Amino acid sequence: AFFVNRRLRQRTSWKRAQCIVDEFRGGCSTPLSRLRQIVDNMVVEMHAGLAIDGGSKLKMVLSYVDNLPTGNEEGLFYALDLGGTNFRVLRVQLGGKEKRIMNQEYKEVSIPPKVMVGSNEDLFDFIATELASFVASEGEGFYLLPGQQRELGFTFSFPVKQTSINSGTLMKWTKGFAIAETVGKDVVEELQGAMHRSNVDMRVAALVNDTVGTLAGGRYEDDDVMVAVILGTGSNACYVERADAIPKWRGPLPASGSMVINMEWGSFTSAHLPKTEVDDALDADSVNPCDQIFEKMISGMYLGDIVRRVLWKLAAEAAFFGGKVPSRLEVPFILRTPDVSAIHADQSPDLKEVIRVLRVVFGIQSSTLQMRKMIVDVCDIVAERGARLAGAGIVGILKKIGRDGGSLANNGGLENHSYAAAEERKKTVVAMDGGLYEHYPKFREYLKQSVVELIGKEAAEHIELRLSKDGSGIGATLLAASHSSFVAEQE
Ligand code: GLC
Repeated sequence: AFFVNRRLRQRTSWKRAQCIVDEFRGGCSTPLSRLRQIVDNMVVEMHAGLAIDGGSKLKMVLSYVDNLPTGNEEGLFYALDLGGTNFRVLRVQLGGKEKRIMNQEYKEVSIPPKVMVGSNEDLFDFIATELASFVASEGEGFYLLPGQQRELGFTFSFPVKQTSINSGTLMKWTKGFAIAETVGKDVVEELQGAMHRSNVDMRVAALVNDTVGTLAGGRYEDDDVMVAVILGTGSNACYVERADAIPKWRGPLPASGSMVINMEWGSFTSAHLPKTEVDDALDADSVNPCDQIFEKMISGMYLGDIVRRVLWKLAAEAAFFGGKVPSRLEVPFILRTPDVSAIHADQSPDLKEVIRVLRVVFGIQSSTLQMRKMIVDVCDIVAERGARLAGAGIVGILKKIGRDGGSLANNGGLENHSYAAAEERKKTVVAMDGGLYEHYPKFREYLKQSVVELIGKEAAEHIELRLSKDGSGIGATLLAASHSSFVAEQE
């Protein structure tokens, strides 16, 4: 009996494995009816967040950007982009209406993990040092206009309570950053201080979220850009809102009549989200438990880890990889979303990518085709859910601004009726950026598909989801240009 038992324990239980996958699929399912509820919840939360600060989990941050680039921006401008796995510095020579972007250069460095969880000063000194060496390499093709001082757009992609176009305090960290000291501080002051220590003579003219930078970069190319979405390490969206639809805005109404709102949609949550016990465990083990629930279901930092957790369960409960759970399956974040994408894109009959990932990432040398198919299935479930939820989020925004085509019929009770009627036939471009969106074709397809399902084929013809690669860096330089002290003097 002992012998039989041991054999049973070591052999994969296909039935149990299939059961785990099916149960997970059920928990993750996003039928249209559920997506609709999520869209509606999103719209309700947007209203609540715009009404008063703290009115919703959605922060709906005022960006103080009430004018988007026109094309007239001119001069040399720098940008810093902090917020994902990489940190970037760039400079752009803007040549006004005619010459547009005359020259650009950037440098990208990955952020040492210890800096992400170290001290406030170390983080900002790290940034300023990189900036200093980049400025030192400024060469041909870049020049200040007479009387112009070097200025910078700071793309800082975390929830910031903005207090002006170039100041704002960090509300909390997201995406694996955790430096307690910085919370509550004005990040522009911190940066200026570090720049001073590194002898960089530059003024921070604009503090922007990456979504806002992407919107600005997109608008520079096309007036129909109204929304920007980041699907990268984290996820977030911003859009152009009518100023009179922002009750919490206490300032004078801007001449443009509108303002960009950084939603911080990563912290959205709803009882309708298809959350499973795997998500709960991921959340509990994260550096920010009970926070960023939407982000944890849709963004690049987490998709791989959700898959890993399901594989772990298959190993532990169905002896998927034999009698023992392979130790690397226990390592958080060891499976990265690019690998999930590679598995998902694999068309080879014997699923070579799965074999590679099992070997390279988990040190698992042998598998059967049946197992590999199940693994592809798990990736598919996780990516499809994430993409469809992101799609629902986008439709929520379109609905809020009356660009979803069918608002008159299904916008009951909300205030946008006449606005919707006037706006609904306009073309709307959603500028999309982030590694997840850019490098994961299946994810993109699922997202697009969900938007079409939600608003209908005809309305969807007026909506374009457009990859706007690296728009946020350029966008930050453009916003620095339009908020430059130099321009102010000229006017
Ligand atoms: C996180 C940040 C947000 C950022 C997004 C994408 O959600 O909180 O500010 O826009 O990641 O980078």
